[in-house]
Amino acid sequence: MDDTEFLGKRVVVTGGTRGIGAAIATRFARAGATVFTTARSEPVAPLDGIHFVVADLSTAEGASIAATRATEVLGGVDVLVNGVGGSTSGPGGALVLDDDDWLAAINANLLSAVRMDRMLLPRMIDRGSGVIVHVSSIQRHLPMNWSLPYAAAKAALSNYSKGLANQVAPRGIRVNAVAPGLTETPAVLARIRRTAAADAIAEEEARWRVADSLGGIPLGRLGTADDIAEMVVFLSSERAGWITGGEFVVDGGTLPIA
Ligand SMILES: NC(=O)c1ccc[n+]([C@@H]2O[C@H](COP(=O)([O-])OP(=O)(O)OC[C@H]3O[C@@H](n4cnc5c(N)ncnc54)[C@H](OP(=O)(O)O)[C@@H]3O)[C@@H](O)[C@H]2O)c1
Repeated sequence: MDDTEFLGKRVVVTGGTRGIGAAIATRFARAGATVFTTARSEPVAPLDGIHFVVADLSTAEGASIAATRATEVLGGVDVLVNGVGGSTSGPGGALVLDDDDWLAAINANLLSAVRMDRMLLPRMIDRGSGVIVHVSSIQRHLPMNWSLPYAAAKAALSNYSKGLANQVAPRGIRVNAVAPGLTETPAVLARIRRTAAADAIAEEEARWRVADSLGGIPLGRLGTADDIAEMVVFLSSERAGWITGGEFVVDGGTLPIA
């Protein structure tokens, strides 16, 4: 790894205190970037050298706090990674879900990114450069019974990402999406443990039960947060200078189609 690749670059990663967002924030910092991140709660362990603000990005107010503070601290943003997202709906399928379930998923997985982009893009446009990455999910192609609002919101995020890329490419800004497969983060570990408890099976068996519910993982292991961070950092770098409007799947081979 080149520890100077992002020297002088100002990077915002939303949702960077755990899991995939934390790996992305750390990876950028190790490559020399000045990094700013957000979460709804204070990090459990101190974030070494990474700026931080508490903000709930599923609300307009939280997004405004995060974007304003990031701009104050960094003086401008070169790279924005919209990492916030997740599923909160439980079992039971589409018919047990109400408007609140749907709005929660849309706010967390789609509007969190739309709002951050809307607030931070104008200064990128003024400068004529910038990079945005949206963290989507393979569930946007593979909707699961237990997380239909999440899958639909991620599908909308990927669709929006493509449209935004088309709009801002002539202004010198690249926009891409990354779609992770099953990645062992605190959120996924919690799901594995809930499955183990509900089905009265060992954690390792539950891990593969969850993986198999998505169609399995041909490479034989769950992803790590670093697997996803590597793709996000590549897309944000000059090495990806001619890549925009794409969605890049990082899933160990789960998706059965290209
Ligand atoms: N793990 C997977 O298998 C997988 C697969 C496909 C896509 N993804 C996507 O990857 C992203 C990260 O997932 P993860 O598994 O790493 O999640 P995670 O372990 O739950 O970590 C989520 C991070 O985002 C923060 N966060 C969550 N909601 C927030 C909100 N409303 N406002 C501000 N911060 C918020 C959390 O901190 P607080 O709780 O303190 O707010 C935490 O720092 C999500 O967009 C997810 O949909 C994950």
